Amino acid sequence: MSSKPLDEVRDERAAAGLLPPTPATDAESLERQVRELGDWFHNLNLHGVHTAPNHFLGDFPTVKWKNVQRVIPEDLTGATVLDIGCNGGFYSIELKRRGARRVLGIDVDERYLRQARFAARTLGLDIEFQRCSVYRVNELPGKFDFVVFMGVLYHLRYPLFALDQVVKKIGGSMLFQTMIRGSDQLRSWDKDYPFWNTEIFRQPDFPCMYFIENSYAGDPTNWWIPNTAAVEGMLRSSGLDLLAHPEPETWLCRPGTRLRAGDYLLEQEIAGYPEDLADEGAHG
Ligand SMILES: C[S@@+](CC[C@H](N)C(=O)[O-])C[C@H]1O[C@@H](n2cnc3c(N)ncnc32)[C@H](O)[C@@H]1O
Repeated sequence: MSSKPLDEVRDERAAAGLLPPTPATDAESLERQVRELGDWFHNLNLHGVHTAPNHFLGDFPTVKWKNVQRVIPEDLTGATVLDIGCNGGFYSIELKRRGARRVLGIDVDERYLRQARFAARTLGLDIEFQRCSVYRVNELPGKFDFVVFMGVLYHLRYPLFALDQVVKKIGGSMLFQTMIRGSDQLRSWDKDYPFWNTEIFRQPDFPCMYFIENSYAGDPTNWWIPNTAAVEGMLRSSGLDLLAHPEPETWLCRPGTRLRAGDYLLEQEIAGYPEDLADEGAHG
């Protein structure tokens, strides 16, 4: 049996990820526990201790939240929330503070999930955090009144496969954000173009996604970075109505009526298109 004091054993096990650390009450040990949880991407304010004070984007994501929060109902009493790619839990925490009944944060990275659990416990908030990929949201029961899908799309090798699944989990609305590069211009495009029109593809504001074969910003998980027109086109094409655009990278949206033959596009894509659509030349 170990002769170490119980507190020390508990701290060591917590640092190894075997136990959720018990949130400390004094700033010094809180600071130590925060550092033991590794590098943070979210700069949270845990009773005066900042988790990522030197973030390259400044006080992140507070700087983003300042612009987007006005499009979210201030009172979410009774609502259910799904925060996809929740990271350190910033958005989960803010939405719980607005009164949401149930907040579920999902992520694929255990380190971030440990940080999020620690932050919620430290702040005394009842939030669930679960390891789950966006590609498996269909396994979560039911729909959610409010879905947060921020900062994840460009990390995905299969972005539309994910987006089409996420749409099916939205019971009310969704806050969506992605990194954007290239043109930020929007204009209306024709519904169709002749095969020989190659000119449109030379227009920088034509909807497009940049494919990153190796790495961008030192991150090999940055796969596809859309321009603004592509973001809006993809959201619409996945069946969403765009309700608000509170800052350049963020949209508030909700499922609309753009289902094909009453079905989600995801089902049609996987099952194969119905004959009448194929007849229209959809699969030239
Ligand atoms: C740039 S951070 C964004 C964090 C937060 N949503 C925000 O907007 O500040 C991307 C997050 O997505 C998570 N992530 C990456 N791939 C994912 C996947 N397939 N399913 C769920 N989360 C994923 C990462 O682990 C990371 O926490």
